[in-house]
Amino acid sequence: MDSETREKLIAAAQQARTRAYAVYSGFTVGAALLTADGARITGCNVENVSLGLTQCAERVALGRAIAEGHREFQALAVASSTGVAPCGACRQVLAEFCDELRVLLVQEKPILHTREVSLLALLPDRFEPKTDS
Ligand code: THU
Repeated sequence: MDSETREKLIAAAQQARTRAYAVYSGFTVGAALLTADGARITGCNVENVSLGLTQCAERVALGRAIAEGHREFQALAVASSTGVAPCGACRQVLAEFCDELRVLLVQEKPILHTREVSLLALLPDRFEPKTDS
């Protein structure tokens, strides 16, 4: 991923964050997936009055990507005020489609700062049923 592609992915996650529906927590998150063929697919968190029905930004982005026919991904950017990493549920759902994935954790305050991690590091011992038993 060249630096222009990286910057565009980060900007897409930041833009998606502005559309978050986070009226209960006040914590807005934007996500942007970079597909194998270079498309950017975004998501934001969508909260619900029944709090457990809240959808995370990462899973919204992944669901949109799958629905649009993408199954292979190069990178994911997640933008928030504090630069949070994807929750455990999102890690497992991402692992469904990605053996490995570059994950850019974008912290927007007090200044823009991005930290790069990998899905393997975030989820080292993923659930994978054995196929031979
Ligand atoms: N959230 C995400 O969108 N992604 C994560 O990986 C962690 C949490 C959202 C869910 C909820 O709307 C808000 O952040 C506070 O938990």
